[in-house]
Amino acid sequence: MQTLQVALGDRSYPIHIGAGVLGMPELLLPHVRSRKAVVVTNTTVAPLYLDRLRSTLEKGGISVLPVILPDGEQFKTWETLNLIFDALLGARCERSTTLIALGGGVIGDMGGFAAACYQRGMPFIQVPTTLLSLVDSSVGGKTAINHPLGKNMIGAFYQPKLVLADISTLDTLPDRELKAGLSEVIKYGLIRDPEFFVWLEANLEKLLERDRNALAYAVHRSCANKADVVAADERESGERALLNLGHTFGHAIETGLGYGEWLHGEAVAGGTLIAAELSCRLGWLNAGQVERIERLFARAGLPVRGAALGVARYLDLMSHDKKVQDGRLRLVLLQDIGRAVVSEVADSGLIGAAIEARCT
Ligand code: NAD
Ligand code: GLY
Repeated sequence: MQTLQVALGDRSYPIHIGAGVLGMPELLLPHVRSRKAVVVTNTTVAPLYLDRLRSTLEKGGISVLPVILPDGEQFKTWETLNLIFDALLGARCERSTTLIALGGGVIGDMGGFAAACYQRGMPFIQVPTTLLSLVDSSVGGKTAINHPLGKNMIGAFYQPKLVLADISTLDTLPDRELKAGLSEVIKYGLIRDPEFFVWLEANLEKLLERDRNALAYAVHRSCANKADVVAADERESGERALLNLGHTFGHAIETGLGYGEWLHGEAVAGGTLIAAELSCRLGWLNAGQVERIERLFARAGLPVRGAALGVARYLDLMSHDKKVQDGRLRLVLLQDIGRAVVSEVADSGLIGAAIEARCT
C-alpha cells in the first residue's frame, strides 16, 4: 500500500493506493465522522463491491444507505442526480452525513456534485473502481453532470476527504474499459512526464495483461502527477488546463455522437491524436513524434482517429468548451512529448485541416 497526499492546506487529503485497501477499516474509518454513510454506486458495481465496502464500514459501527443508480454516461444527468437527493432527503441525511462514491468516473462525478450541493456541502469520499477513475477522476475535486449541449457543463469544484484506490477492483473491469483508462494514463506522459511515457512504451503489454505491479506503478505515478497539478492550480487558472489534452476534441465527439457511444477515454484518445496532428501542423511536433504517440495509443487498443462528425460540427461543439475565453477557443497542444501548452489558434482553417486529416 502506498499513500500520496493532495496538498491543499486544511483541505488536504490522502490517496491510499493498493490491492485490498477497500477492506482496511483503519484507512477508511478515520475519515467517516457520521454514524451513517450514504454509498452512491450503480447497478453494475453494487453487486461486485458494495458488500465489501459495507462490511468495512460496519466494523466501525457505521450503517450504510445504498443509492444504486442506473449505469452509463447517458445517465449523468439532472434526473439521475435528483435520485441521489431524493434518497438523501428521504433518509433524513444531515449535513454531517458522509457520502461515498463507489464506482467509475460517472459515479464519482455525480456523487461528488451531489455532495457539493446537498445542504451546501456534505463530506465526501471517492472509492474509484475503474482505471480511469483510479488515475484521474477521483483526484482533484472536479464534479459535474452533462448537458445535452455540452459535457460536464454543470458542476462544482469540491474536494473529497479521502481517495481509497483499490487496484484489485480492476480484476472485474471489462477490457474495453481498461483500455479507455489507459488513455488518461498516457496523457500524463504526454503533458508533463516524458520518462513515464518511455516507461509506458516499455510496459504497455504488462498493463493490458493486468500485471498487478505494473498497474500499481501506473496508478501511483498518474496520481502523483495529478496531485502535483491540482495542488499547484486547484481551480484551473493555469497549469491544470493541461490535464485536458485531447478533451476539447474528445468532448465534441462524446456530445456529437450522443453520450455513451464512445467511452470517454476512447474519445480522449481520438482527440489527443487530433491535437497532436494540429501541433505538428504548427511546427511544434515532428511527424516522427506524432507517429510515436499514435503507436502507443494503437498498442493500447484505442482509437487514433476522431469520429467523422464533420469540421463544422466539431467547431460548433468545441465553442462550448470550458477553456473558451471571450469567445476565443484555447486548446491544449504539444510542444514535445512531455511538454504541453494551452494556446489560442487564431487560424480556424488550421484546426479544421487537422480535424479533416484525422477524422475522415
Ligand atoms: P464509468 O464510470 O462509466 O465506468 C465504466 C463502466 O465500468 C461502467 O459500466 C461501470 O459500471 C463499470 N465498472 C466500474 N467499475 C467496475 C469494476 N471494477 N468492474 C466491472 N465494471 C465496473 O466510466 P469511467 O471511464 O470510469 O469514467 C468516465 C467519466 O469520468 C466521464 O463521465 C468523464 O467525464 C469523467 N471524468 C471526470 C474527471 C474528473 O476530473 N472529474 C476526469 C476524467 C474523466
Ligand atoms: N481531468 C481533468 C482535471 O481534473 O482537471
